[in-house]
Amino acid sequence: MTNNKLFLQTLKGQQTERVPFWFMRQAGRYLPEYMALRKEAGSFLDLCYNPDFATEVTLQPIKRFNMDAAILFSDILVIPHALGQDLAFKVGEGPVLTPVDNLEKLKALSMEKLHQHLNPVYQTVSNLSEKLPNNVALIGFAGAPWTVATYMVNGRGSKDQAETRLMAYQDRETFQKLIDLLVTSTSEYLIKQVEMGVDALQVFDSWSGTLPADEFNQWCVEPMRKIVENIRAVYPDVPIIGFPKGAGHKIQTYIKKTKVNAVSIDTSTSTSWVRDKILPLCPVQGNLDPLLLVSGGAALEKAVYHILDHLKAGSHIFNLGHGIIPQTPPENVKMVSDIILNYKR
Ligand code: CP3
Repeated sequence: MTNNKLFLQTLKGQQTERVPFWFMRQAGRYLPEYMALRKEAGSFLDLCYNPDFATEVTLQPIKRFNMDAAILFSDILVIPHALGQDLAFKVGEGPVLTPVDNLEKLKALSMEKLHQHLNPVYQTVSNLSEKLPNNVALIGFAGAPWTVATYMVNGRGSKDQAETRLMAYQDRETFQKLIDLLVTSTSEYLIKQVEMGVDALQVFDSWSGTLPADEFNQWCVEPMRKIVENIRAVYPDVPIIGFPKGAGHKIQTYIKKTKVNAVSIDTSTSTSWVRDKILPLCPVQGNLDPLLLVSGGAALEKAVYHILDHLKAGSHIFNLGHGIIPQTPPENVKMVSDIILNYKR
């Protein structure tokens, strides 16, 4: 089963004949077939909680581009939603939540209905594990506690996560309780995804880059270390990928302390530094600039070869440094896929 999946072989530290690839946000608004299904479902959240639609949306990019892995279609904010926080996705605005920014509001959240609420997501995983071609791996995911907390506390996305950083400084005890709740619920959620059939897990810490080093250790590294420990206690062999976006040189500590199996590297990180400092530690995913995928042409081609050439001596999974942008022409994704599929190490 496992041995014909290049993605999983690479995560085990092997060097496969061809570099496997997938893209963050590979299912989404740049695909007309996605827009059609979203319209039919009603809204983005309706799509996430409808197993038939979510299954279809997950498969859409695989059918077009032959990626080596599919990522479960859902969102990192289904966890606060399942804990009882209000959530809506407004077109053009992104997620909107009623802020949880004090102890009283935190106490109103509960894990009681966690699995019941997330049951449609588990059903999607189960559908996908049957429907995916057997050389394509299925990635389950969740947001890391810090990143999810920034949306929970602030109530929407923000440039510098200032409200949440302030809360962490001013009311450390309450903020620690929020992080602890997220560590427990996220661990349970990810364990259930493995039980239902995902082959690997990715944890997105999209906003880890705004924290000073000590805060990074407390709110990003330590919670992730616990999540990895909790998952391994039940499933010792499932590969876990961390994405501490913007962490820079702190990625090294992150890998050593959290004991993740692999890391995803963001756009700003130099590929020669990754080759010298990170590839000796663990397999790496990354790190094409999603804007190059929008602009296309010779610059895109050059950047793809640059990444492939720099990382070919190690266990490398080709990916983006962040998610696909809605303006991306699907032909550019096709061009990159073709280069990777034909690239010889
Ligand atoms: O193909 C895939 O990658 C799988 C699905 C996936 C989505 N979100 C679907 C989505 C994944 C893995 C995520 C992760 C996610 N969600 C992150 C971490 C990765 C990152 O982007 O940094 C974060 C921070 C979120 C929270 C979130 N979801 C925001 C801030 C937004 C609004 C901004 C935006 O891009 O629209 C979303 C919406 C969202 N999540 C969409 C999709 C396809 C767009 C929804 C739509 O159809 O309008």
